[in-house]
Amino acid sequence: HQVTWDLAAIEKSGYEHFMLKEIHEQPQSLRDVMRGRLLPEEGMSRLGGITLSDADLAKVERITITACGTSWHAGLLGEYLLEELARIPVDVQYASEFRYKNPVIEDNTLVLAISQSGETADTLAALREAKRRGALTMGIVNVVGSTIARETDFGMHLHAGPEIGVASTKAFTSQIVALVLFSLYMGRRRDMSVLEGREMVEALQRLPDQVEEILQQTDDLRTLAEEFADARNFLYLGRGYQFPVALEGALKLKEVSYIHAEGYPAAEMKHGPIALIDEEMPVVFLAPRDPVYAKVVSNIEEVKARSGRVIAVVSDDAPELQGKVDHLIRVPQTVPALLPVLTTIPLQLLAYHAAILRGCDVDQPRNLAKSVTVE
Ligand code: G6P
Repeated sequence: HQVTWDLAAIEKSGYEHFMLKEIHEQPQSLRDVMRGRLLPEEGMSRLGGITLSDADLAKVERITITACGTSWHAGLLGEYLLEELARIPVDVQYASEFRYKNPVIEDNTLVLAISQSGETADTLAALREAKRRGALTMGIVNVVGSTIARETDFGMHLHAGPEIGVASTKAFTSQIVALVLFSLYMGRRRDMSVLEGREMVEALQRLPDQVEEILQQTDDLRTLAEEFADARNFLYLGRGYQFPVALEGALKLKEVSYIHAEGYPAAEMKHGPIALIDEEMPVVFLAPRDPVYAKVVSNIEEVKARSGRVIAVVSDDAPELQGKVDHLIRVPQTVPALLPVLTTIPLQLLAYHAAILRGCDVDQPRNLAKSVTVE
């Protein structure tokens, strides 16, 4: 009698799919990206991989972030984070565009490449082009020893562990935290006060348990997915820090469930997507309690007035929304800069369950590859 081990099933440690396993690993992957990097007293981060001298760090006047796919969405969030927390001007470019245009790289421009695999062909080519033009380069990469990790001047590893599911989940939330740590690092060398820094470090420490709390709602999200799994289109809307989350939520749904979805800045909706709204159209609003919350509430009213079906992701009781939305998904409250980590989780689960209900192969969606090493 011979026992045949199903290796893949073992690696999934009891989960049905890698995507679900990796979604559930996030409390741990977030602890891992922060391990040894928090200085609570100083309200600061310690980043051993940033080998640049303080004098050279002080010279950085502008940051250009380049990446593809989900990593590009993390990069967009990096723009909001670095501008808000470190007051450094940032622009974010698709690597495939950056490499073929004529990018302006000034003397004190730092080019930051973000990549889970460290092997994406376009990101690597953008990095090489930046180096050829004399830029200082940094990487935020998951895979240790990958080409992008090796070819950048310095950087940070995510330590998220292997990500097998083609659609990125845990790498994305770790990228966000890495960017927060880097913003703290730069910010505290510039304008950020020790009190602000401490508040951020404390919020970071609470984050993994908060993610754990959200993961307990997976049954509710399955029920929600059942109601919407037949939809043909979805809109995802958010503002400020939640705009990149909207883009990522829409991408996740497209990738794994093949439902067409668009992410948009909530206020930009009136310049186009509002024309699509009728009683058939589910609209996911990212509406946690942050400085643009009141603005988002009025965007929700605009959608409701046109009979759209509203699902709102909120971070407290959201009394302003009672009776105005069809469904509320609640995440814990934290500082605005970290809310994207929390609001992303239910969107990953929504995409996962919608895909399963539609019979899709979530770990290997059609036409997609985990690492795109051709241009
Ligand atoms: C592919 C994957 C995405 C990923 C993108 C960038 O499209 O399917 O999940 O976000 O490549 O990959 P990278 O490894 O550079 O982050």
